[in-house]
Amino acid sequence: MAKWKVFVTRRLPSPGLELVAEECDASVYEGDRPIPREELLRRVRGVEGLLPLLTEAIDAELMEAAGPQLRVIANYAVGFNNIDVAEATRRGILVTNTPGVLTETTADLAWALLMATARRLVEADAYMRAGKYAGWSPTLFLGPDVYGKTLGIVGFGRIGEAMARRARGFGMTVLYHDVRRRSEAEEQQLGVVFREMDDLLAEADFVTLHVDLNERTHHLIGRPQLERMKPSAILINAARGPVVDEAALVEALRTGQIAGAGLDVFEREPEMAPGLADLPNTVLVPHIASGSLETRAKMAEIAATNLLEALRGHRPPNLVNPEAWGKE
Ligand SMILES: NC(=O)c1ccc[n+]([C@@H]2O[C@H](COP(=O)([O-])OP(=O)(O)OC[C@H]3O[C@@H](n4cnc5c(N)ncnc54)[C@H](O)[C@@H]3O)[C@@H](O)[C@H]2O)c1
Repeated sequence: MAKWKVFVTRRLPSPGLELVAEECDASVYEGDRPIPREELLRRVRGVEGLLPLLTEAIDAELMEAAGPQLRVIANYAVGFNNIDVAEATRRGILVTNTPGVLTETTADLAWALLMATARRLVEADAYMRAGKYAGWSPTLFLGPDVYGKTLGIVGFGRIGEAMARRARGFGMTVLYHDVRRRSEAEEQQLGVVFREMDDLLAEADFVTLHVDLNERTHHLIGRPQLERMKPSAILINAARGPVVDEAALVEALRTGQIAGAGLDVFEREPEMAPGLADLPNTVLVPHIASGSLETRAKMAEIAATNLLEALRGHRPPNLVNPEAWGKE
């Protein structure tokens, strides 16, 4: 039997590629940076399956370049804002993601950012390495307590909920905002209280973002929202860069409108807004929230399974556009 032709846009952790190679004629981009657009458009020609990363824009032009035989786009991420899902659906192409396995790993990193920003770990580490430590001081690298404070979670889905569980161990009051309000019983069980966005921003000592990126969440945090936050507040973003107006954030951090920010994602990755990297009250990491050994391997396995199931004619486990099912 002829093998399905697929393209994978980057080498993936084991066992992703091995699974794909068993049943497919798989071509893999070997570079260690995002594949150049021209090369991507060329290499997708004639494929039945595509396994991209969130760094690739999978739009109408690309689907057109691939051709009408393209049946599945199996994203190596839980977010799928890099894919024009409506266009894929129109063409009867199945789109899948890798939900669930990233939840705890991403919450761990968001929590690490929160702790590191509050307690100034990165600045303090640099100070030690520079040989500046001259002995204990009562005023060295002071930051706010985390324990007992108020956490505001914006976007209370899987990862938001995992943050609430962590906050419980720190004796925090947990407020959440989401377009979908939970039942009272659920709120009670999770120990969280609903707030309208403006109230959450005004009350929280730490605001952590866990919404998906969509038209309504683009620049969800801009100048007016930053102005509502406490001057002592810290903002954490391990969701998607464009959820925050990064230039407004730089301004707010520079003027002391808010106290600090811990960022895993940036508005125009891999670039950062001018001035951001010069601010001492930020902890900046390169989109590594799902980057545990175990999770990246599981994501590869899930993306490969989604791809293979779709090619076999089975409904893939993590279909994000069920409307396309049966339309291929
Ligand atoms: N930094 C990383 O490496 C990394 C890793 C995993 C996930 N993510 C991002 O985190 C996002 C969340 O992941 P998840 O698995 O928790 O997804 P999820 O779908 O379970 O949760 C997203 C929540 O955001 C809510 N939401 C959407 N629009 C909103 C709005 N305008 N206002 C308030 N709430 C809104 C949704 O109702 C939902 O409850 C993903 O979409 C992805 O972009 C980033």
